Amino acid sequence: MGDSPDSAAITVEGLWKIFGSRAQKVLDSEDRHLDQAALREKTGCTAAVRDVSFEVRPGEVFVVMGLSGSGKSTLVRCLTRLIEPSAGEIRIGGEDIGRASPARLREIRRHRVSMVFQHFGLLPHRKVIDNVAYGLEIQGTAKAARHARAAEILSLVGLDGYADAYPDQLSGGMQQRVGLARALAVDPQVMLFDEPFSALDPLIRRDMQAEVIRLHREVGKTMVFITHDLSEALKLGERIAIMRAGSIVQLGTAEELVGAPADDYVADFVRDVPRSHVLTLRWICREPEPGEPLDGPVLPATTLIMDAIGASSASSRPIRVVDGDDLVGVVDRVDLLTFLSDADVTVQA
Ligand SMILES: Nc1ncnc2c1ncn2[C@@H]1O[C@H](COP(=O)(O)OP(=O)(O)OP(=O)(O)O)[C@@H](O)[C@H]1O
Ligand SMILES: [Mg+2]
Repeated sequence: MGDSPDSAAITVEGLWKIFGSRAQKVLDSEDRHLDQAALREKTGCTAAVRDVSFEVRPGEVFVVMGLSGSGKSTLVRCLTRLIEPSAGEIRIGGEDIGRASPARLREIRRHRVSMVFQHFGLLPHRKVIDNVAYGLEIQGTAKAARHARAAEILSLVGLDGYADAYPDQLSGGMQQRVGLARALAVDPQVMLFDEPFSALDPLIRRDMQAEVIRLHREVGKTMVFITHDLSEALKLGERIAIMRAGSIVQLGTAEELVGAPADDYVADFVRDVPRSHVLTLRWICREPEPGEPLDGPVLPATTLIMDAIGASSASSRPIRVVDGDDLVGVVDRVDLLTFLSDADVTVQA
């Protein structure tokens, strides 16, 4: 944050979406501050997104989490105006989306921002290769060129040999790979995922998560990824925004959410995370005590607590926790054991 707007891949400022015929009236009055139930009772409107602001950095995987109905899908659909925002500003790659003409919006959705949904939306009467090439076909790419590109992407998502199959001949996981391939084929700058794997069974889901992580590493796209699933969020997300009733209640790294949840709602979300897998030494290191030996092992402050256990059991000296050349603090075996018994045991209860 704090960068100039154009250095962000996506910038959202003061975004509101109120559903209902009196949306504008609500927005212009104090009623917009009413909670969901009171607002609905008084005006019949739903404030699905309430004054949301954030930036997504180029190449970042930005995760949006929250309970059902908290406004995740509405927020993400507002980004390309698949849902028309009630107020606020959106820029993608510096371009003001609110000012884009209908033709320009179609262009943006076809070329620059692609979406992957829970229901893959494949065309049943078209072969896999033609499903993947669909976006290119709409763009007017010639058949040979779009098939060459589609074949390349099919290979990237592990579907070599399925070009001539029809969607219903594939498993759910494979169909979602086709959905991914279709989104990737147009070489978008941004990919938006709305719970793409929630209909898949857990093992296939894990495969697909690994696939997205690998793809992200290889193609480096900016991604916004909605999920209900905290372990998915932790695996994929560099930063996570937690939504409740239309607002972002906290936005931060997994470490920030787990280490310092903003309220009980966030604490509830992260309750089951083993803290030593997410928190780093920076979180638990302390000032050395007078006379404490300072010749123990050295570890960066960014080391996960669980990864420091080996070093601490290999030496009787406290670990020196450093940031570059600076000593940030120390952590000894007792500190680590105390942390582990306090944290991970209560968490599993
Ligand atoms: N077209 C619509 N008209 C009226 N209200 C809507 C519409 N779409 C969504 N809403 C309401 O807006 C709120 C947010 O819905 P949204 O679908 O964005 O939530 P979500 O976080 O994606 O939920 P889920 O996890 O179940 O997908 C809900 O109260 C929903 O009922
Ligand atoms: Mg949704």
